[in-house]
Amino acid sequence: MIDVLFVLDDKTEVPAIVNKAAAMFSVARIPASDIKPDHVARARVVVVHAALRSVGHVERIEQASDETRRREDCIYVAKGIDRAGIVQAESIGIGRVFAAHQPLDDVFTAIQAILNRELSNKLTGHPASVVQAVETTDTLVRQVAAAMRADAPLPLRLLSASSQSIGVAVGSGGLMQWINAVELHHSQTSRHIMMVAGYADAFARTLGLSGSDTALFTEASLLHDVGKLFIPISILEKAGPLSDAERKAIMTHPLRGAKALKRDNAAHPLVIAAARSHHEYLDGSGYPDKLAGDQISPLVRMLTIVDIYSALTEERAYKAAMTPRLAITQMAGMKGKLDARLFAAFRDMVLNPVFGSQRSARSAENGPVQDCLANGIHPLDCGVFSHTAGQRAAG
Ligand SMILES: [Fe+2]
Ligand SMILES: [Fe+2]
Repeated sequence: MIDVLFVLDDKTEVPAIVNKAAAMFSVARIPASDIKPDHVARARVVVVHAALRSVGHVERIEQASDETRRREDCIYVAKGIDRAGIVQAESIGIGRVFAAHQPLDDVFTAIQAILNRELSNKLTGHPASVVQAVETTDTLVRQVAAAMRADAPLPLRLLSASSQSIGVAVGSGGLMQWINAVELHHSQTSRHIMMVAGYADAFARTLGLSGSDTALFTEASLLHDVGKLFIPISILEKAGPLSDAERKAIMTHPLRGAKALKRDNAAHPLVIAAARSHHEYLDGSGYPDKLAGDQISPLVRMLTIVDIYSALTEERAYKAAMTPRLAITQMAGMKGKLDARLFAAFRDMVLNPVFGSQRSARSAENGPVQDCLANGIHPLDCGVFSHTAGQRAAG
């Protein structure tokens, strides 16, 4: 499935609306003369940006889409002063019609509204806590993405609500229930962010972290790839191999994300540092700063583990999802790069046969616990947990 199919006058044109939309959504183009039901079936939203002067073109669009889809998922954007086109679009029941002088942002808001409605429909039947957490996080990501594109201060009002709601959803229904709901999201980047945050919450519970350390870790997870929201979806979700230039563009995301977060000082300094350093490895082979050993904080070490595991087990446009066991085997091969003790604890957690279906209370509910991550202390040296025993130790 793609997010938006643009129906245009001819094959060769690439109007500004398509280029701008490609930064936010996965897009495809088709000339009105070629459109078939298959094309419409594979798109979540159809945007007709063609002069509807040819009766043949109008008929093709009608034949390719049923009345409900035209009303609910179809948008017409006039090309220049085209009164006749607008009348024609309305006459075949296209739900949203924009004159050429209306801001493109209004069109993108309308596209987003259709995608949001689709997400809500898909989430029907999932537990209320899960729906609430997906919707809150989705809104957070959309608000932050819009601000990044506009070079405006990042609105992080929902950050803590999002992290808490994920905690409630994962704690009350288990991680797998959360992952199953998140997989329904249309955006690969949003899915990744929500999954990493879910694994972070579960890992924090397993390690018996304090409430504020858990919040710190989950918030760092929600913002770790914020720099990717600058990068066009056409590169992020490319199905084929990346060119060198595209790979370099993606590798700018830690610095770009940290810069945006730092400028506004809206996030915790450790969260900003985590956005910058989550691709660093203990042996100094990561990027962007080639940090090594003790230069990499416990929070970043934990984030790197949940980030890599999530990426390996996610289905992407360019690869199938790995099984948990295969992902863990691959990560075990990254000797010297990941924190061995944290990785062992994470491995034991995800390979535990009942992992994912377990419900668990927040550690804070079990009594006061020391803040480790916030103080730069390794969680396994913090005197609160012994993972080999699978239980929180005294203290
Ligand atoms: Fe990243
Ligand atoms: Fe990531």
